[in-house]
Amino acid sequence: MDKLITLDHVSKHFHVGKGRTLVAVNDISLDIYKGETLGVVGESGCGKSTLGRVVMGIYPATKGKILYNGKEVNM
Ligand SMILES: Nc1ncnc2c1ncn2[C@@H]1O[C@H](COP(=O)(O)OP(=O)(O)OP(=O)(O)O)[C@@H](O)[C@H]1O
Ligand SMILES: [Mg+2]
Repeated sequence: MDKLITLDHVSKHFHVGKGRTLVAVNDISLDIYKGETLGVVGESGCGKSTLGRVVMGIYPATKGKILYNGKEVNM
């Protein structure tokens, strides 16, 4: 099967004032193949929605690469 989405060491940090950084998503690597569904489970605030927003391009990733159909989409 073909890979549809690849995350390669993806992180998202938010600057939350006074020089502080909140690490919302920390070093996620995964592949989603065509026809596959991925569920993300975890406690409130662990970064599920932020991860989805980074994959959709709503937030730029702070680190790492996102590929869609083999092409990098977060440049
Ligand atoms: N735009 C933002 N600016 C600053 N911090 C944010 C922002 N969005 C999310 N966060 C913080 O990032 C962390 C992850 O939040 P996120 O909303 O991704 O969690 P979640 O797993 O979706 O939680 P829930 O299960 O409650 O929906 C939290 O500490 C949250 O406060
Ligand atoms: Mg959420």
